[in-house]
Amino acid sequence: MIKPEAVQSGYSGKIIDMIIAAGFNIKALKKTKLTKEQAGAFYAVHKERPFYGELVDYMSSGPIIAAVLEKENAVSDFRNLIGATDPSEAAEGTIRKKYAESKAKNAVHGSDSDQNAQVETEFHFTTNDIV
Ligand code: CMP
Repeated sequence: MIKPEAVQSGYSGKIIDMIIAAGFNIKALKKTKLTKEQAGAFYAVHKERPFYGELVDYMSSGPIIAAVLEKENAVSDFRNLIGATDPSEAAEGTIRKKYAESKAKNAVHGSDSDQNAQVETEFHFTTNDIV
């Protein structure tokens, strides 16, 4: 997902360019706005964390862009492309280093495993959306 502050700041095209240049194939793509309930469900794994409420409020605060990406080793390669969660710790040239504002407003989300990628794909898309 491209998160609300990055969409609002007009970085979506530049971020999608970086994703394509890194060799990812876009299988599905959409702009949408999550309700609080949807954002809460998407991040349910973080329910017990102190930042959960802030995260849910933020992720439902404006439009996001959701995408399904295909590549060999997609999960680990995408995490390398986006950089560390906290942009102050992200490597030079990563999406978060270039475009993230803070640890909370960190421009993009990437799935942390193939299993979660499947769950998160089904959260945003149906089979017919993926081509
Ligand atoms: P993301 O990759 O979307 O997965 C969970 C998100 O929680 C993470 O990126 C951050 O945006 C957010 N997050 C993680 N740690 C913190 C924190 N300490 N304070 C606020 N938000 C956080």
